[in-house]
Amino acid sequence: MQTQERTTFKTAFEQEVYEGLTAFPKYLPSKFFYDQKGDKLFQEIMALPEYYLTGCEYDIINANKEQFENLFSTEAGFDLIELGAGDGKKTKLLLEHFVKNKVNFSYKPVDISADVLEELEESVKSTWPSLDIETLQGTYIQVLDNISEYNQRKKIIMLLGSNIGNLTHEQAVDFLKSIQETMNVGDILFMGLDQKKSPARILSAYKDSKGVTEAFNKNLLTRINRELEADFDIESFTHWPTYNPETGTTKSFLVSQKQQKVHINQLNLTVKFEAWESIHTEISQKYDDSTVSWLAKEAGLQIAAQFSDQKGYFKDYILEK
Ligand code: AVJ
Repeated sequence: MQTQERTTFKTAFEQEVYEGLTAFPKYLPSKFFYDQKGDKLFQEIMALPEYYLTGCEYDIINANKEQFENLFSTEAGFDLIELGAGDGKKTKLLLEHFVKNKVNFSYKPVDISADVLEELEESVKSTWPSLDIETLQGTYIQVLDNISEYNQRKKIIMLLGSNIGNLTHEQAVDFLKSIQETMNVGDILFMGLDQKKSPARILSAYKDSKGVTEAFNKNLLTRINRELEADFDIESFTHWPTYNPETGTTKSFLVSQKQQKVHINQLNLTVKFEAWESIHTEISQKYDDSTVSWLAKEAGLQIAAQFSDQKGYFKDYILEK
């Protein structure tokens, strides 16, 4: 069915695109959404009225700054390590509050995108020149080793925005376990998770009327066209998000409207699509307290506290060893 054998790849992108498009059913990993264009599209998504997650978490942080200061602070200070910092819009609420109250801490944002980090560092330095900031570029997994070296004082590891929702429960447990292993007793994992709610509300967050989320998904095909010299006819794919209330999983697809062949030069690969065949592009998991307790327990952690927005759409959890 698919063509030529291939065993060596120059990059993880090449390898994972190859694996995903030669698998049945086809898939592409959502972590590759985030090139320069993808970063921009995601920032646009966060500003959409339908994408309630960002606003809810912003409100939670804004309403509980004092509490977080009390939970984090120690005499020796703490390291605030943020995984997937992005533009830091929500975290800046905390930074501002901490600087104002002369809290002893340093901010260590981690992101896969060097561009995003550079912008964040610049804006933090110009707004709060006294703030101690050190950026770390890499995937979450790549930087875990660096994180275990921050052992001089209390660590607050932040994972906002329901970012681990892109992982299956099994992957999430593995990931949380490896975070847990970098933690000492007294350290905190501060994690924001989107909650189960009305299926219509959830679905609308992934099916916005301006088509930004569609462009975000399709950007992956554009990226393959550009970086791997492929000829995806982007227009002939339909973006199709779904929500399953039983599992709490939002699952997004790009569906081929016709039978077609796509050539990917760099991979020496021809991918054949049947009419209405799908490419699974992303999961965005929704949670409830019992699921979060279970995940935490599996990873050797427990919920010490939780904070919700007024509508109960989103929660931030304080997890401890
Ligand atoms: C950044 C993974 C939390 O799944 O909600 C937004 C990414 N995808 N719209 C999410 C995303 C489509 C987002 N996360």
